[in-house]
Amino acid sequence: METGIRAGDLAPGDALPAVRALAAELGVSPATVAKAYQELRQRGLVVTAGRHGTRVRPRPPVASRRSALMPPPLPGARDVSAGNPDSRLLPPLGPHLAALAAELRAPVGYAASAVLPELAAAARERLATDGVPADEITVTGGALDGIERLLAAHVRPGDAVAVEDPGWANLLDLVAALGLRAIGVPVDDEGPTAPGVRAALAAGARALIVTSRAQNPTGAAVSAGRAAELRALLAGRADLLLIEDDHAAELARVPLHPLAGATPAWAFVRSVSKPYGPDLRLAVLAGDEATVARVAGRARVGAGWVSTVLQRLVLALWRDPATGGLVRRAAESYDRRRDGLVDALAARGLAAHGRTGINVWVPVPDETVAVTALRDAGWSVAPGALNRIAAAPGVRITVSTLDEADLGPLADAVARAVRPSPAGFSA
Ligand SMILES: Cc1ncc(COP(=O)(O)O)c(C=O)c1O
Repeated sequence: METGIRAGDLAPGDALPAVRALAAELGVSPATVAKAYQELRQRGLVVTAGRHGTRVRPRPPVASRRSALMPPPLPGARDVSAGNPDSRLLPPLGPHLAALAAELRAPVGYAASAVLPELAAAARERLATDGVPADEITVTGGALDGIERLLAAHVRPGDAVAVEDPGWANLLDLVAALGLRAIGVPVDDEGPTAPGVRAALAAGARALIVTSRAQNPTGAAVSAGRAAELRALLAGRADLLLIEDDHAAELARVPLHPLAGATPAWAFVRSVSKPYGPDLRLAVLAGDEATVARVAGRARVGAGWVSTVLQRLVLALWRDPATGGLVRRAAESYDRRRDGLVDALAARGLAAHGRTGINVWVPVPDETVAVTALRDAGWSVAPGALNRIAAAPGVRITVSTLDEADLGPLADAVARAVRPSPAGFSA
């Protein structure tokens, strides 16, 4: 099966043969086939969904020559599916790289490598300003790397992990690849709902991952009221690892209402990908002493550390007032375009969501119909199937390649492609 996925003979969504039929064909016992399917499931290659049988996951974690739930955009179509920041608004790295080149002295070896104290101090100060206690801090290769290390240190294959539904597609893929069970927590504009979190805890979730702001794909941001509710729910839960993902970071123009410290085991991860560029591959991770020590200690016996060259580059970006100005300008631009698209859709009778961030989530009755109709109209949008467990269907539109003049025509195309769905985005 794995070879089939790698070669592209088995595509995302394809059904695997029924256990008994395959057992008969191969001349082995059904238990052997069932065990093999279980192993594929634990490695996140396939998913078993009741009467739909066992199918290849949308993005299985093996390199494939044909990995596509999303068809490539038609030539000439506008791609609003990607979830990338606006490359026109990322701070230029060139001048900082040149300054670094002049400043770097002796090469850094194994013994001297670590989290740069200056970077840790600057990160601590930034997090403390936002109310995140950051005495213990480490650095990872981006948010998802940090989350993977946190999960690997705290949970075991088969354990349940509570994630937002709809949520970040890459995180759902990671949870599947680690052999964990995802429990979906419904989201509204103020973050994960309290009843959803309560149900996930009751169902035995060993970790909970919450996006602070710019939730992907709905744009939700945890409000003060929701944070208070969730903190009360989580208080004293020694059995749960709480992970917060604040990837909007300096781009967010709503206040942070952290949950950090609500549980004894917690971590707060802030990537630099969205404000400064995904290719920097760096996130800071704060948390309780034991949790941070596990992540840092495990990294030390594996990848080692995040290159001090990258750490110095991020520090230079943080310290440069001109970069701060560019990030503020980018934040305003995202807000303008995102709010503009949500308003344009509302004017056409469509209740879309996008309180913060770079994405707009549009509930639709049928994703395939909507994605195909929009593709025919020249717009490539992301099907919500990548983001959903049990949440209602939707499509995700990233605003970062849009100009203001695009908003009206895009909203017209969306309105033609879908009918209004007053039910909202939660299942
Ligand atoms: C919810 C969420 N968290 C974090 C990130 C950034 O991840 P990384 O730091 O691994 O680039 C993204 C990027 O799309 C995201 O959508």
